[in-house]
Amino acid sequence: MSKIHAAITAVNGYVPEYVLTNKELESIVDTTDEWITSRTGIKERRILKGEGLGTSDMAVHAVNGLLKKRGITAEEIELIIFCTTTPDLPFPASANILADKIGAKNAWGYDLQAACSGFIYGVSTGAQFIESGKHKKVLVVGGDKMSSIINYQDRTTCIIFGDGCGAVLLEPNEEGLGVMDSILRSDGSGRQFLHQKAGGSARPASHETVDNNEHAVYQEGQAVFKFAVTNMADVAAEIMERNHLTSEDVTWLVPHQANKRIIDATASRMGVGSEKVMINIQRYGNTTNGTIPLCLWEWESQLKKGDNIILAAFGGGFTWGSVYLKWAY
Ligand code: UT7
Repeated sequence: MSKIHAAITAVNGYVPEYVLTNKELESIVDTTDEWITSRTGIKERRILKGEGLGTSDMAVHAVNGLLKKRGITAEEIELIIFCTTTPDLPFPASANILADKIGAKNAWGYDLQAACSGFIYGVSTGAQFIESGKHKKVLVVGGDKMSSIINYQDRTTCIIFGDGCGAVLLEPNEEGLGVMDSILRSDGSGRQFLHQKAGGSARPASHETVDNNEHAVYQEGQAVFKFAVTNMADVAAEIMERNHLTSEDVTWLVPHQANKRIIDATASRMGVGSEKVMINIQRYGNTTNGTIPLCLWEWESQLKKGDNIILAAFGGGFTWGSVYLKWAY
């Protein structure tokens, strides 16, 4: 019997309607469209407005659209891996909340926290359940409502992040298509450069933590940039070498959208021209777990069966990694 691979058989995405432009940010913090564009490549990002709406509400839109495209019901889903850094609540898991909201009555699920590398970790983890034969329909969701943990007085972070969510369905494939390889890495000593100071068990919420804005993203941008630019490029190059792929063999690079300069460095290290790189950072900014599935969603109509696709990400933790997959439809 031929080996079972986990193939992406459907993809969908959702971004909220509200567009926060660089122009509007100029009226909120001391910044300029020119600075943001030249340092990051971002022109605008989406913000989820509405009392009581969380990351799972964006996921409902993304997943309902995905189920419709694939022509299956929510009850057929067996496992939901919800990759997010901004779950609706500390507990229960957003995977459980999403399952309830979409009617995935037969699914179990869990949240996966690996900051900006979450979706890559999720695809790789989800693939194991398919390859082992345990499950036939695994939903991997990547999404974040970053606006819920951003201090809109901090010009170094509020210009970067946005809200959005994407989802893919993994199913067994016996034609040699799907997830071929993955390399996942982490280095917890990097946490000092990118984290949220309070709201966890070590420093629960208090008047003091709220007054000090400790529930927002804290980032030392330059330090993170240095690690991101080398590690994301290295791991993408490594997965190519390990699978004997030349730059001509690679059809698409799907990079995490944190900074256009990091994306360009990764593509250049792989020897891949800009025409093969999915970039939508100018419209959505950094949606953390949402960036890679949102790219796949937007480029879906251009993808062909057998395309060699490299996913690459770097994020808080530090976490980073790369997935090599062959597109299956
Ligand atoms: O996705 C998770 C992983 N995260 C990342 O990969 C992010 C990696 N880091 C970055 O993308 C970049 O470091 C940033 C975009 C965050 C910052 O860009 P940078 O080129 O590293 O700028 P910097 O932090 O070195 O700051 C340069 C200057 C500073 O002023 P001085 O000290 O030179 O006078 C900042 O205060 O730019 C200033 N600055 C700003 N100026 C206008 C910082 N933010 C802004 C701003 N508008 N929004």
